[in-house]
Amino acid sequence: MTAQIIDGKAIAQQVRAEWKLRADALKARGVTPGMAVIIVGSDPASKVYVAGKVRACAELGLYSIHVELPEDTSEAVLLAKIDELNHDPKIHGLLVQLPLPKHLNAHKVIEAINPDKDVDGFHEKNIGALVTGETPFPSCTPYGVMVMLEKTGIRVEGKHAVVVGRSNIVGKPMALLLLHKNATVTICTSKTVDLAKHTRDADILVAAVGRPNFITGDMVKPGAVVIDVGINRTADGKLCGDVDFASVKQVAGYLTPVPGGVGPMTITMLVANTVRAAERLSGLSK
Ligand code: GUN
Repeated sequence: MTAQIIDGKAIAQQVRAEWKLRADALKARGVTPGMAVIIVGSDPASKVYVAGKVRACAELGLYSIHVELPEDTSEAVLLAKIDELNHDPKIHGLLVQLPLPKHLNAHKVIEAINPDKDVDGFHEKNIGALVTGETPFPSCTPYGVMVMLEKTGIRVEGKHAVVVGRSNIVGKPMALLLLHKNATVTICTSKTVDLAKHTRDADILVAAVGRPNFITGDMVKPGAVVIDVGINRTADGKLCGDVDFASVKQVAGYLTPVPGGVGPMTITMLVANTVRAAERLSGLSK
Protein backbone atom coordinates (compact mmCIF):
# COMPACT_ATOMS: atom_id res chain seq x y z
CA MET A 1 0.00 0.00 0.00
CA THR A 2 1.13 3.56 -0.66
CA ALA A 3 -0.42 6.16 1.58
CA GLN A 4 -2.53 9.00 0.28
CA ILE A 5 -0.64 12.19 1.13
CA ILE A 6 -2.78 14.80 2.88
CA ASP A 7 -2.07 18.21 1.36
CA GLY A 8 -2.07 20.56 4.35
CA LYS A 9 -1.32 23.57 2.19
CA ALA A 10 -4.39 23.04 0.00
CA ILE A 11 -6.69 22.38 2.97
CA ALA A 12 -5.28 25.45 4.76
CA GLN A 13 -6.08 27.61 1.71
CA GLN A 14 -9.66 26.34 1.70
CA VAL A 15 -10.10 26.93 5.44
CA ARG A 16 -8.51 30.39 5.22
CA ALA A 17 -11.01 31.35 2.51
CA GLU A 18 -13.86 30.32 4.85
CA TRP A 19 -12.47 32.40 7.72
CA LYS A 20 -11.78 35.34 5.43
CA LEU A 21 -15.54 35.56 4.85
CA ARG A 22 -16.08 35.83 8.61
CA ALA A 23 -13.31 38.43 8.89
CA ASP A 24 -14.84 40.41 6.01
CA ALA A 25 -18.27 40.30 7.69
CA LEU A 26 -16.72 41.79 10.84
CA LYS A 27 -14.93 44.47 8.84
CA ALA A 28 -18.22 45.40 7.19
CA ARG A 29 -19.48 46.12 10.72
CA GLY A 30 -16.47 48.30 11.52
CA VAL A 31 -14.33 45.74 13.38
CA THR A 32 -11.01 44.69 11.86
CA PRO A 33 -9.74 41.60 13.71
CA GLY A 34 -6.29 42.33 15.13
CA MET A 35 -3.50 40.07 16.39
CA ALA A 36 -0.37 40.93 18.37
CA VAL A 37 2.60 38.58 18.60
CA ILE A 38 5.31 39.20 21.17
CA ILE A 39 8.67 37.59 20.62
CA VAL A 40 11.46 37.81 23.19
CA GLY A 41 15.00 37.19 21.93
CA SER A 42 16.13 35.96 18.56
CA ASP A 43 15.51 32.21 18.35
CA PRO A 44 15.74 31.61 14.57
CA ALA A 45 12.90 29.03 14.43
CA SER A 46 10.60 31.33 16.47
CA LYS A 47 11.35 34.20 14.10
CA VAL A 48 10.31 32.06 11.12
CA TYR A 49 7.07 31.00 12.84
CA VAL A 50 6.21 34.57 13.84
CA ALA A 51 6.82 35.84 10.31
CA GLY A 52 4.39 33.16 9.05
CA LYS A 53 1.73 34.27 11.54
CA VAL A 54 2.03 37.93 10.55
CA ARG A 55 1.94 36.97 6.83
CA ALA A 56 -1.24 34.92 7.32
CA CYS A 57 -2.93 37.87 9.02
CA ALA A 58 -2.04 40.13 6.10
CA GLU A 59 -3.34 37.53 3.63
CA LEU A 60 -6.77 37.58 5.29
CA GLY A 61 -6.83 41.36 5.70
CA LEU A 62 -6.37 41.26 9.49
CA TYR A 63 -4.50 43.94 11.43
CA SER A 64 -1.40 42.63 13.13
CA ILE A 65 1.52 43.90 15.14
CA HIS A 66 4.74 42.16 15.92
CA VAL A 67 6.53 43.23 19.11
CA GLU A 68 10.21 42.25 19.27
CA LEU A 69 11.79 42.48 22.70
CA PRO A 70 15.48 41.84 23.46
CA GLU A 71 16.70 38.57 24.97
CA ASP A 72 17.42 40.23 28.35
CA THR A 73 13.91 41.74 28.73
CA SER A 74 12.81 41.66 32.36
CA GLU A 75 9.62 39.99 33.52
CA ALA A 76 8.23 43.37 34.58
CA VAL A 77 8.73 44.87 31.12
CA LEU A 78 7.17 41.87 29.39
CA LEU A 79 4.17 41.84 31.75
CA ALA A 80 3.69 45.60 31.21
CA LYS A 81 3.64 45.06 27.42
CA ILE A 82 1.07 42.27 27.82
CA ASP A 83 -1.04 44.54 30.01
CA GLU A 84 -0.90 47.29 27.41
CA LEU A 85 -2.03 44.92 24.62
CA ASN A 86 -4.70 43.37 26.88
CA HIS A 87 -6.25 46.86 26.96
CA ASP A 88 -5.66 47.79 23.31
CA PRO A 89 -9.07 47.75 21.56
CA LYS A 90 -7.46 47.13 18.15
CA ILE A 91 -5.99 43.83 19.42
CA HIS A 92 -8.33 40.82 19.75
CA GLY A 93 -5.74 38.03 19.74
CA LEU A 94 -2.54 38.20 21.78
CA LEU A 95 0.20 35.62 21.97
CA VAL A 96 3.72 35.34 23.29
CA GLN A 97 5.90 33.12 21.15
CA LEU A 98 7.44 30.19 23.04
CA PRO A 99 10.02 29.15 24.10
CA LEU A 100 10.91 32.15 26.23
CA PRO A 101 14.47 32.87 27.43
CA LYS A 102 15.23 30.84 30.58
CA HIS A 103 15.02 33.75 33.04
CA LEU A 104 11.32 34.26 32.20
CA ASN A 105 8.55 32.15 33.73
CA ALA A 106 6.39 31.04 30.78
CA HIS A 107 3.49 30.00 33.02
CA LYS A 108 3.33 33.40 34.73
CA VAL A 109 3.57 35.15 31.35
CA ILE A 110 0.76 33.10 29.79
CA GLU A 111 -1.48 33.64 32.79
CA ALA A 112 -1.05 37.42 32.35
CA ILE A 113 -2.74 37.29 28.91
CA ASN A 114 -6.42 38.23 28.95
CA PRO A 115 -8.12 34.82 28.44
CA ASP A 116 -10.56 36.46 26.00
CA LYS A 117 -7.57 37.33 23.80
CA ASP A 118 -5.67 34.05 24.38
CA VAL A 119 -5.85 32.79 20.78
CA ASP A 120 -3.20 30.12 21.49
CA GLY A 121 -5.59 28.61 24.03
CA PHE A 122 -2.78 28.25 26.58
CA HIS A 123 -4.31 30.16 29.53
CA GLU A 124 -5.51 27.90 32.36
CA LYS A 125 -9.06 29.23 31.92
CA ASN A 126 -9.09 28.07 28.31
CA ILE A 127 -7.37 24.78 29.09
CA GLY A 128 -10.06 24.13 31.70
CA ALA A 129 -12.69 24.95 29.09
CA LEU A 130 -10.95 22.59 26.66
CA VAL A 131 -11.39 19.76 29.15
CA THR A 132 -15.14 20.40 29.35
CA GLY A 133 -15.38 20.88 25.58
CA GLU A 134 -16.32 24.57 25.82
CA THR A 135 -13.18 26.45 24.86
CA PRO A 136 -13.53 29.22 22.28
CA PHE A 137 -9.82 28.81 21.49
CA PRO A 138 -8.67 25.22 20.93
CA SER A 139 -4.84 25.12 20.72
CA CYS A 140 -3.97 25.81 17.12
CA THR A 141 -1.99 22.70 16.14
CA PRO A 142 -4.44 20.10 17.50
CA TYR A 143 -7.34 22.21 16.20
CA GLY A 144 -5.66 22.22 12.78
CA VAL A 145 -5.27 18.43 12.88
CA MET A 146 -8.99 18.00 13.67
CA VAL A 147 -10.01 20.28 10.81
CA MET A 148 -7.61 18.48 8.48
CA LEU A 149 -9.14 15.09 9.37
CA GLU A 150 -12.64 16.46 8.87
CA LYS A 151 -11.82 18.05 5.50
CA THR A 152 -10.19 14.79 4.35
CA GLY A 153 -13.37 12.90 5.25
CA ILE A 154 -11.71 10.83 7.97
CA ARG A 155 -14.15 9.94 10.72
CA VAL A 156 -12.79 9.82 14.24
CA GLU A 157 -15.74 8.39 16.16
CA GLY A 158 -15.09 4.92 17.54
CA LYS A 159 -11.54 4.78 16.18
CA HIS A 160 -8.48 4.07 18.29
CA ALA A 161 -6.37 7.24 18.24
CA VAL A 162 -2.86 7.05 19.66
CA VAL A 163 -1.08 10.31 20.45
CA VAL A 164 2.67 10.07 20.96
CA GLY A 165 3.72 13.12 22.99
CA ARG A 166 2.29 14.74 26.09
CA SER A 167 3.11 18.43 25.69
CA ASN A 168 0.70 21.14 26.81
CA ILE A 169 0.81 22.67 23.32
CA VAL A 170 0.05 19.54 21.28
CA GLY A 171 -0.18 16.12 22.94
CA LYS A 172 -2.62 16.82 25.77
CA PRO A 173 -5.03 19.10 23.86
CA MET A 174 -4.86 16.73 20.86
CA ALA A 175 -5.97 13.81 23.02
CA LEU A 176 -8.87 15.86 24.42
CA LEU A 177 -10.12 17.04 21.02
CA LEU A 178 -10.06 13.46 19.73
CA LEU A 179 -11.88 12.29 22.85
CA HIS A 180 -14.59 14.94 22.35
CA LYS A 181 -15.20 13.38 18.92
CA ASN A 182 -15.67 9.97 20.57
CA ALA A 183 -12.34 8.42 19.64
CA THR A 184 -10.81 5.88 22.00
CA VAL A 185 -7.62 7.67 22.96
CA THR A 186 -4.26 6.40 24.16
CA ILE A 187 -1.53 8.88 25.11
CA CYS A 188 2.04 7.62 24.86
CA THR A 189 5.39 9.31 25.41
CA SER A 190 8.82 8.67 23.95
CA LYS A 191 9.46 6.62 27.11
CA THR A 192 6.44 4.31 26.82
CA VAL A 193 7.51 0.69 27.25
CA ASP A 194 6.98 -1.27 24.01
CA LEU A 195 5.74 1.85 22.25
CA ALA A 196 5.35 0.02 18.93
CA LYS A 197 2.76 -2.30 20.51
CA HIS A 198 0.57 0.77 21.09
CA THR A 199 1.28 2.58 17.84
CA ARG A 200 0.60 -0.58 15.81
CA ASP A 201 -2.88 -0.67 17.31
CA ALA A 202 -3.70 2.88 16.18
CA ASP A 203 -6.29 3.63 13.51
CA ILE A 204 -5.18 7.25 13.82
CA LEU A 205 -1.61 7.90 14.93
CA VAL A 206 -0.49 11.41 15.88
CA ALA A 207 3.26 11.86 16.29
CA ALA A 208 4.13 14.89 18.43
CA VAL A 209 7.25 13.86 20.23
CA GLY A 210 9.86 16.19 18.71
CA ARG A 211 12.32 13.54 17.53
CA PRO A 212 13.35 13.22 13.88
CA ASN A 213 11.98 10.14 12.07
CA PHE A 214 10.94 8.54 15.38
CA ILE A 215 7.93 6.63 14.01
CA THR A 216 8.98 4.03 11.46
CA GLY A 217 6.93 1.85 9.10
CA ASP A 218 7.12 -1.22 11.35
CA MET A 219 5.32 0.80 14.10
CA VAL A 220 2.26 1.50 11.95
CA LYS A 221 -0.86 -0.58 11.30
CA PRO A 222 -1.49 -1.09 7.57
CA GLY A 223 -4.00 1.50 6.35
CA ALA A 224 -3.73 3.75 9.43
CA VAL A 225 -4.00 7.54 9.30
CA VAL A 226 -0.64 9.01 10.35
CA ILE A 227 -0.41 12.67 11.32
CA ASP A 228 3.08 14.09 11.70
CA VAL A 229 3.23 17.14 13.97
CA GLY A 230 7.03 17.18 14.28
CA ILE A 231 9.18 19.94 12.85
CA ASN A 232 12.81 18.96 13.27
CA ARG A 233 16.04 19.75 11.49
CA THR A 234 18.44 17.03 10.45
CA ALA A 235 22.23 17.47 10.83
CA ASP A 236 22.41 18.74 7.22
CA GLY A 237 19.76 21.41 7.95
CA LYS A 238 16.82 19.75 6.19
CA LEU A 239 13.34 19.93 7.70
CA CYS A 240 11.89 16.60 8.80
CA GLY A 241 9.01 15.37 10.91
CA ASP A 242 8.67 12.83 13.73
CA VAL A 243 7.62 10.24 11.15
CA ASP A 244 10.00 8.41 8.86
CA PHE A 245 8.15 9.39 5.71
CA ALA A 246 9.72 6.85 3.32
CA SER A 247 8.95 3.74 5.37
CA VAL A 248 5.58 4.87 6.77
CA LYS A 249 4.34 5.83 3.30
CA GLN A 250 4.56 2.15 2.34
CA VAL A 251 2.24 1.08 5.18
CA ALA A 252 -0.17 3.90 6.12
CA GLY A 253 -3.47 4.70 4.42
CA TYR A 254 -3.05 8.47 4.85
CA LEU A 255 0.02 10.48 5.79
CA THR A 256 0.82 14.16 6.30
CA PRO A 257 4.13 15.44 4.90
CA VAL A 258 6.64 17.79 6.57
CA PRO A 259 6.71 20.51 5.40
CA GLY A 260 3.27 21.12 3.86
CA GLY A 261 1.18 19.08 6.30
CA VAL A 262 0.16 20.21 9.76
CA GLY A 263 2.27 23.43 9.72
CA PRO A 264 0.02 25.48 7.39
CA MET A 265 -3.03 24.33 9.38
CA THR A 266 -1.59 25.59 12.69
CA ILE A 267 -1.21 29.13 11.41
CA THR A 268 -4.62 29.00 9.77
CA MET A 269 -6.30 28.08 13.04
CA LEU A 270 -4.47 30.90 14.82
CA VAL A 271 -6.07 33.31 12.37
CA ALA A 272 -9.42 31.55 12.87
CA ASN A 273 -9.10 31.94 16.65
CA THR A 274 -8.27 35.64 16.18
CA VAL A 275 -11.37 36.20 14.07
CA ARG A 276 -13.44 34.34 16.69
CA ALA A 277 -11.88 36.48 19.45
CA ALA A 278 -12.85 39.63 17.54
CA GLU A 279 -16.42 38.31 17.10
CA ARG A 280 -16.68 37.58 20.82
CA LEU A 281 -15.09 40.82 22.03
CA SER A 282 -17.36 42.86 19.78
CA GLY A 283 -20.39 40.98 21.08
CA LEU A 284 -21.14 39.29 17.74
CA SER A 285 -20.71 35.71 18.93
CA LYS A 286 -20.43 33.70 22.14
N1 GUN B 1 6.02 27.81 19.91
C1 GUN B 1 5.81 26.68 19.18
N2 GUN B 1 4.49 26.54 18.90
C2 GUN B 1 3.87 27.61 19.45
C3 GUN B 1 2.52 28.02 19.48
O1 GUN B 1 1.60 27.38 18.95
N3 GUN B 1 2.28 29.20 20.14
C4 GUN B 1 3.26 29.91 20.74
N4 GUN B 1 2.92 31.04 21.37
N5 GUN B 1 4.53 29.54 20.73
C5 GUN B 1 4.83 28.39 20.08
